Amino acid sequence: MAPNATGLLNRRQLVAGASSALALAAIPRARASAPAREFVLTPQAGRARLFTADGPQTEVWAYNALVPGPEIRIKQGERLRVRVDNRLAEQTTVHWHGIRVPNAMDGVPHLTQKPIAPGESFVYEFDCPDAGTFWYHPHQRSHEQVGRGLSGALIVEEPAPYRADRDVTWLVGDWRLGRDGSAIEDFGGLHDISHDGRLGNVTTINGRTLDRFEVRAGERVRLRLINAASARTFGFHFAGHRPQIIALDGQPVAPHEAEDGRIILGPAMRADVVIDMTAKPGDRFAVSDRADPRDSFRLFDLAYSDAAPLRTKFDAVAALPANPLAEPDLGSAERHHVVLDGGMMSRMESAVVDGKRVDIRSMFRSGLMWAINGVSSRDHVHEPMFTLAKGRTYLFEIENRSMWNHPMHLHGHSFRLLSVNGTPRPHREWLDTVLLRPRERAEIAFVADNPGDWMFHCHNLEHQLGGMMGMVRVG
Ligand code: C2O
Ligand code: CU
Repeated sequence: MAPNATGLLNRRQLVAGASSALALAAIPRARASAPAREFVLTPQAGRARLFTADGPQTEVWAYNALVPGPEIRIKQGERLRVRVDNRLAEQTTVHWHGIRVPNAMDGVPHLTQKPIAPGESFVYEFDCPDAGTFWYHPHQRSHEQVGRGLSGALIVEEPAPYRADRDVTWLVGDWRLGRDGSAIEDFGGLHDISHDGRLGNVTTINGRTLDRFEVRAGERVRLRLINAASARTFGFHFAGHRPQIIALDGQPVAPHEAEDGRIILGPAMRADVVIDMTAKPGDRFAVSDRADPRDSFRLFDLAYSDAAPLRTKFDAVAALPANPLAEPDLGSAERHHVVLDGGMMSRMESAVVDGKRVDIRSMFRSGLMWAINGVSSRDHVHEPMFTLAKGRTYLFEIENRSMWNHPMHLHGHSFRLLSVNGTPRPHREWLDTVLLRPRERAEIAFVADNPGDWMFHCHNLEHQLGGMMGMVRVG
């Protein structure tokens, strides 16, 4: 079964190998119980045109010869079964970012599975309990595998379709390319690790640099924004429009406009927004990245077609139905303090590496520059930071002592963001990744209801590489 064809419209096919392995192949297979929707993902090296159809080619790694990988669409409550055939020259895994999977399906190498060797396959199979906008990517050497192009959208549809004229996914990529479009292969550089990660110089939407995105006057678009960049935080701004956020990290939130009109998404974060096209046929408006409020970077234009308006009056934006998440019981919550430190301009003098205290200079020499609660981890497998009792509510107070942004991601759970720097969040949004600004504090709360060992790490993939990776054990 191919997914909804609209999901494939903007995706870029690789130039080499285009005749084979297109889109999603279905595995015909009958199961006695719990039939699953079946897909195949084939990570492999190839080339893609990230600019125009006749523009330069870039060496990439891609799922099914597509950048980004095919959009997987499934309905809430359905079971997903994905066979991954590794055609890379190195090991890989697939992590289903934000989906509350059973631990064995979480795609963390050595911790939840053996990495998939070149030429080998692995079958992931799990239920999708929450509707929303999720994504998939490798968890093996992610800084390079994601950075070279391995990522894709995973959309879990609500049982009753949300009312909008179009459902559009923008998977946003950030690439470091030479003038001729060639990939610059400086992955894991010490400067990137110790600063803001490997920031790119080219932004793509669904694998292509856009000049315009065509819209029709009077239409209502549900836009699913996915920040698949390794390191860049985006602040999406839509001139002349007032997007309403209806979900964050896949989880519904009361419809509201972004503070100061910027939809801020750190790496791995998602937002579903409803945009009503209230202007006139032929109008154009800039879509910009204003992550840095002093520096607005135009990405492309919303370009209104000449078609007559679809409507002139819009209904109020409806909320999405809630997902079946356990509500934290704050009265009985157990508190944990999580300190993030390291990077340039930090006062951190040492950290524990492989069970031994190591001074910061020796850490730097081995590429480790970050710590969570004083521990710097190169590997996915190590002692848990905390062991959590199944079913109990936990409140993490996360303190960023560094001068850098950290999008902190917890696997296997969604959490409520309660406060930032002591100020309660008006919507207490559910997230799976919380962005901490320099010197910021945030409180998150969740019910530890999914047993297993779960990574808790920075999703700036160079920070993760540089040690910013912890694990919590539930059960
Ligand atoms: Cu999106 Cu641990 O990852
Ligand atoms: Cu970080």
